[in-house]
Amino acid sequence: MVKRQTPGSPERKFSLPLGLIAAIVLATVTAIWLISVMAGRPPANTAQENARALIGGPFTLIAEDNRTVTEKDFAGKYMLIYFGYTFCPDVCPTELQTMSTALDMIPQDKLDKIAPLFVTVDPERDTAPVMKQYVALFHDRLIGLTGTIEQINDMKKTYRVFAEKTEDTGASDYLVDHTSIIYLMDGNGEYLSHFSYGTTPEEMAEKLTRLIP
Ligand code: NI
Repeated sequence: MVKRQTPGSPERKFSLPLGLIAAIVLATVTAIWLISVMAGRPPANTAQENARALIGGPFTLIAEDNRTVTEKDFAGKYMLIYFGYTFCPDVCPTELQTMSTALDMIPQDKLDKIAPLFVTVDPERDTAPVMKQYVALFHDRLIGLTGTIEQINDMKKTYRVFAEKTEDTGASDYLVDHTSIIYLMDGNGEYLSHFSYGTTPEEMAEKLTRLIP
């Protein structure tokens, strides 16, 4: 006996899900394409533009005289910012010395446009008086900035700085692993350039003189 095809036969039933599957596949492909197009927009044209978008922004910190300062206090100035801590045994003193020597090498009118800042990544030990005493060892223009743990954490995020205690956090003589990079921000507080560890004072002075009008 031959089984008759009925409207509810498997072949008939199968045609609808196939169309549905095709529609789902098409929708998925379209969605993936759309996402990829949107992800590529705006395109990162240069590393400079990327850095401009990622580094810098508003901040609230505490200056040497316990006064609260924000990025607005440095508006119109070229902020030369280094992150570190006063207990740092080698890298920070070296970098601050390089920065100070470079500052002494550039023309006075350009020097007047620079706000050299040393921001601590160790606010628990680097209080305002500690910072004041420390920066005085390097350059009379160098400004030491600290803050609450939260303010410093925000600042680290804003400037994409990594810093982490390396030893027993309970000990008072701990070290702090940290990014060693000097940022040069323009008069609008936007990223202009940076100096990596190992830059000589001559190279830094030359670049500062060239970049600052
Ligand atoms: Ni250091």
